[in-house]
Amino acid sequence: MKTLPKRNYLILLCMSLVFMFTLISCGKSEKNDNTVVEDNKDASIENNEDVNDVNDVNNDDEQDSDDIEEVIEEPEKEPNLFLEKYQETGELPNLAELYKDKFYVGVALAQIDFSKNKKDLVASQFNSITCENEMKPDAVLDRNASIALGDEESVAINMNRALPAILFAEENGIKIRYHTLVWHAQTPDWFFNVGFKDGGERVSRDVMIARMESFIKEVMEYMNTNHPGLIYAWDVVNEAISPGDGREDGIRVTDNKWFEVVGPDYVELAFTFASKYVAEDQKLFYNDYQTYDKGKMFYLIKLIEGLQEKGIIDGIGMQDHMDLTNPGILDYQYTINKYADMGLEIQVTELDINTTDNSEEGQKRLASRYKAIMTIILNCIERNDSKITSITLWGLSDNRSWLNKPDTPNYPLLFDKDLNPKYSYFGMAMDDSISIAY
Ligand code: GLA
Repeated sequence: MKTLPKRNYLILLCMSLVFMFTLISCGKSEKNDNTVVEDNKDASIENNEDVNDVNDVNNDDEQDSDDIEEVIEEPEKEPNLFLEKYQETGELPNLAELYKDKFYVGVALAQIDFSKNKKDLVASQFNSITCENEMKPDAVLDRNASIALGDEESVAINMNRALPAILFAEENGIKIRYHTLVWHAQTPDWFFNVGFKDGGERVSRDVMIARMESFIKEVMEYMNTNHPGLIYAWDVVNEAISPGDGREDGIRVTDNKWFEVVGPDYVELAFTFASKYVAEDQKLFYNDYQTYDKGKMFYLIKLIEGLQEKGIIDGIGMQDHMDLTNPGILDYQYTINKYADMGLEIQVTELDINTTDNSEEGQKRLASRYKAIMTIILNCIERNDSKITSITLWGLSDNRSWLNKPDTPNYPLLFDKDLNPKYSYFGMAMDDSISIAY
């Protein structure tokens, strides 16, 4: 057999080496392109560091790409079996702790709720409170002291009714949502009258604007001087939109003395004054009900965009007094996305779910509804980075809910009359044993 010269053997050997190397690298990049990057898509969207890690690995050797596949595996989710644990040991999780990286978990309390066992329960579950009534204008405005000032344009306040809540919050490291500065309801008639008299003549627009500023200044300065760091959000204006009243801007006319004496720009004026006196780390909210109603939403957006243009608002308070079916879950998701897209911070300020059914089945249904609402909220935070920063239940236990009627008790909250957690509590905690109601 004829043999090749030695030089040709060398050339052949080099060509085979190059060919083999090419094969190996193609195989490797195919694996990287189709497997590692694909598997890692979600993680890399969330985290730029991960993207860099993956790119580094694509240039590394086989061993490293295997390592990365291990690193990017979805972490095992701890099962949420709070109900089971509670039934076995009587132990509950702490809702505030559970969601501490995402939002405040709050509860509305009235003075009557400051009994020892209620306080213990609140301190063990919540890190935010709202006064159900004690910080509303009719609780805070001091008529005699205002008259004594002898000045039509200045008002005096007295925060004594809110003191138990304030002291309790401070003692327990709990924050407060201030509810509410300017509202058509629970605001005394004399506040709008000459000489702060009951009945008689209304003051002029200019005097009322001065009184509004004086009131907002007094409250904000009182809270921020005496209790710095306690308030994290202010409901500056509550419920100013009422499309049924027929105005083009949707501003509430019926039974609205702010509209009557000042005019439709009372909302903007309130936010202007609140911006002037607000502390640095506090946020200003417009708060309303039925914020998911498409008709109402149109007016809310118009109003809020105007305030955003002036840089005097941070967020929207969605009251969220709901029932078992309304709003639909997709409408609810749409609503959150809509407000989040406007760059608004969102707080759920008065959550309760109306139901008169206290049967086992009825309460499980309620729990499923709470879990569905929480699922939407958590998804919006995780997928769209929606800024939902606080969720407040409008009441602690069923026997003290505004939804109770003399002949028809309601069961809308997380704790029963004896302060035992209900299925709804576990729905709110996203317990795995509770189904989701869509
Ligand atoms: C509205 C108000 C709250 C409270 C509830 C019902 O939502 O904003 O302050 O009065 O109604 O209790």
